Amino acid sequence: MRDVIAKLPSSKIREVANAAMGRSDVLAFWFGESDEPTPEAVREAAARSLRAGETFYSHNLGLEPLRQGLSDYVSALHGPVGMERIAVTSSGVSALMLALQMLVDAGDEVVAVVPLWPNLTAQAQILGGRVRRVSLQPRQGHWQLDLEALLAAVTSDTRALLVNASGNPTGWTLTRAEQQAILEHCRRTGTWIVADEVYERLYYGNAAAAPSFLDIAGEDDRLIVTHSFSKSFLMTGWRLGWLVLPRGHLDAAAKLIEFNTSCAPVFVQRGGLEALRIAPDFVPALVRRMREGRDRLVDALTSMPGVDVARPAGGMYAFFRVAGQADSLAFARRLVEQHGLGLAPGVAFGPEGEGWLRWCFASRDPARLDAGARRLAAALGL
Ligand SMILES: Cc1ncc(COP(=O)(O)O)c(C=O)c1O
Repeated sequence: MRDVIAKLPSSKIREVANAAMGRSDVLAFWFGESDEPTPEAVREAAARSLRAGETFYSHNLGLEPLRQGLSDYVSALHGPVGMERIAVTSSGVSALMLALQMLVDAGDEVVAVVPLWPNLTAQAQILGGRVRRVSLQPRQGHWQLDLEALLAAVTSDTRALLVNASGNPTGWTLTRAEQQAILEHCRRTGTWIVADEVYERLYYGNAAAAPSFLDIAGEDDRLIVTHSFSKSFLMTGWRLGWLVLPRGHLDAAAKLIEFNTSCAPVFVQRGGLEALRIAPDFVPALVRRMREGRDRLVDALTSMPGVDVARPAGGMYAFFRVAGQADSLAFARRLVEQHGLGLAPGVAFGPEGEGWLRWCFASRDPARLDAGARRLAAALGL
């Protein structure tokens, strides 16, 4: 076994979840998904494909109609992106791994904006990369980028910059001006930007999507954007995502996909195609429900003395802290074991998240969030 693998930490979210294994009384908000199943039309499309016997390998890069559909979908949001820049992947996490496999050699330096969903930094480490962390700073619960610190950390020795905005767990988003400064800086240093934009549609500003690097980058910029059907279409269990690459990089992606997963399952891709078809109606309605959940939860948390939280601009999480609770793993364990409230400990997202808790507000029934908030209030003796 390689040393780096043996040393990888196991998920601290799972550690809390395992402590509640088999308990039906727990209200769980620890994972990044809704309790609402995938839209019926999408499930039906996949079922039709299976009934028609579409059970074979497909092209490494995905079905052409899906790649064309993604090209249309991305282009409508961000300006022209042709299908010669799009590869279908078996999940967002696989898209990220492929992006890093394309870029990171053993010993390469990778800069990551943190606190961050741990998979990105773990993947870079698995490939032998050295991860340098630049932390967002909380101000009254709002996590903000120290742009100067980030630009100072990214040098001509930096192979790749990992940015996830809208961010998991903080709900932080990049402004256009910050994006522009980062892009221009990375052009100078020759650094690749790996932009994980899986939460772009779960955006609560005045636009159909959060600001994307695709809005400002050219087709030859060193930019890889990773995406997923999981969040915008409630398809976490399907394992379907995609990559947007610079011009001329598709053959490399196809080779790597062959050696990772070979292709995404055809019936899953048919579901993805249907998701894109219903997107114009489905996504805005989903965002309305998410926004309602966000506001309900953040209002409840804000009303609790000692709780520090800000309304996230994007994503599906409230990231908050409670005065006097410095050990997030111990606190999350106590909440689940004694109060039946399942949250993710902030330390799961790196030492910068210690003392914080992540609460996923994607829920079919907003009353579940109210019930969860009552359990937290009880735990705090309120
Ligand atoms: C920041 C971020 N990127 C990527 C993913 C991957 O999504 P999936 O692998 O389900 O497509 C997630 C899922 O939680 C995430 O939070």
